[in-house]
Amino acid sequence: MRIPFYKPSIGEDEINEVVDTLRGGWLTTGPKTKQFEAEFAAYLGQKHAVALNSCTAALHLALEAIGLKAGQGVIVPTMTFAATAEVVRYFGARPLLVDCRPEDLNLDVADAERKIQAALAEGIHVAAIIPVHYGGQIGDVHGVQTLARKYQLKVIEDAAHCCPAYYWETEMGDGRWEMEEGRGETTEKAESGKATPHPTLSPAEAERATGPRKSEVAATPHPTLSPVEAERATQRQDRETLGLRNFQLSTFNSQPTKNGGDTSPYPLPGRGGEGRFSPVGTSADITCFSFYANKTITTGEGGMACTNNDEYADRMRIMSLHGISRDAWKRFTAEGSWYYEIIAPGFKYNLTDIAAAIGLHQVRKADLLHRRRCEVVKLYQESLADVEELILPREQPGRIHSWHLYSIRLVLDRLTIDRAQFISELAARGIGTSVHWMPLHMHPYYRETYGYKPEDLPIAASLYPQLVTLPVYPDMSPEEVGYVCASIKEILVKSRKGSATVPVAPVGVSPTGNRR
Ligand SMILES: Cc1ncc(COP(=O)(O)O)c(C=O)c1O
Repeated sequence: MRIPFYKPSIGEDEINEVVDTLRGGWLTTGPKTKQFEAEFAAYLGQKHAVALNSCTAALHLALEAIGLKAGQGVIVPTMTFAATAEVVRYFGARPLLVDCRPEDLNLDVADAERKIQAALAEGIHVAAIIPVHYGGQIGDVHGVQTLARKYQLKVIEDAAHCCPAYYWETEMGDGRWEMEEGRGETTEKAESGKATPHPTLSPAEAERATGPRKSEVAATPHPTLSPVEAERATQRQDRETLGLRNFQLSTFNSQPTKNGGDTSPYPLPGRGGEGRFSPVGTSADITCFSFYANKTITTGEGGMACTNNDEYADRMRIMSLHGISRDAWKRFTAEGSWYYEIIAPGFKYNLTDIAAAIGLHQVRKADLLHRRRCEVVKLYQESLADVEELILPREQPGRIHSWHLYSIRLVLDRLTIDRAQFISELAARGIGTSVHWMPLHMHPYYRETYGYKPEDLPIAASLYPQLVTLPVYPDMSPEEVGYVCASIKEILVKSRKGSATVPVAPVGVSPTGNRR
């Protein structure tokens, strides 16, 4: 069997829309891009969505819009892709790299504060923070918001992996909604896929940590829909006012899922009207998404910068097309004007209508694709739960993970092989994997420019050799997941230190024989 690391889910809708675009003759930014922007903004509840040719471009324009200057500092997690920090360097500004927390590999806010204080002591003005939501799991939103308020930082979210991802917020009583990080947080830091008791938490807190018992899930007005879908249904009126079709709901309703209603992928922390799930982007100044080929939704290459701030949106639009004043893309249309003015030396970051044609259908399917990835992850969690040489990723309390990445950790001191050997053994069995990521501070550029040593950000440096990302894509079949799991178990059993052996169970069955 050959299982690539990723396969995009492109259907006839996308193909026909691209053909329609080609036949229509308007290939670059135009009506399809505008439509894609409108639908994407409505999907994530954002006022503005600016379509761009990459997430890197979105991050760059976001920093330009907030007015980042040379010599200033920006908090960036070391556990991220090149793009998050390189855009800071475009300005001659300094990425202040921050360690991650082991439970979800997201930015450690306490370490961010230490790095801010060190920078301030050196006279560096810290202008912004760029939280990255690793693999599609939203990090410590509350911590980032608190830090941003305390040090007057702009928050630019790198949500490259997050279409869609959600976090649970509660009403603070003063009209503000915030995530309550820590309430319902598990105390054990070891991440495993197994259900664990929470001995130090109250019953209510423990329930938040593991999700409610099925019998106690509050009835929603839309019992056949997932909670998120139900919430969307209640927002239908708003969408119709905006003149947008309620495409997600119709997609869902016409696509019954294999799992049925009571095995929803959406774990709800005690739902009783006191809180709500908010999509990524709710708390940031600007949120940036990627539509690169392997992302949760794709346009081949592409990105989106979302904001509720009119000035930022205007500035990003103008700077995305050479700094030309308003509606530059219309200058060759009948309604546009030949006259334009350049107000700043901008960039060439616009998305084409050919790419937007794909994106239009991908965003309409985003929930369906998400649901399918959740199903794949559920199979991985069930099958790998008892493998002691692995630490599985875990959905943190109060989150809905996008499951763009499913990154496992190898317990190396139980094994006779290292991560590279494990990956080549999988490759020999036709299975594609990846590593997310070598921490930025360990790369030559950041080492040489800023003198970083691995131990400067010790958590990321110590987790890096353990990380392996397994294939997850919406069209991955249970047989394919089964093959990956069986291959992993086979490799681990023969590479186990010492003599103890655990029987390799058929996929979907625990070693004790119980179906999990
Ligand atoms: C966390 C993160 N940020 C930014 C990017 C850049 O995205 P793009 O390729 O759309 O520029 C990526 C791409 O993989 C990423 O993983």
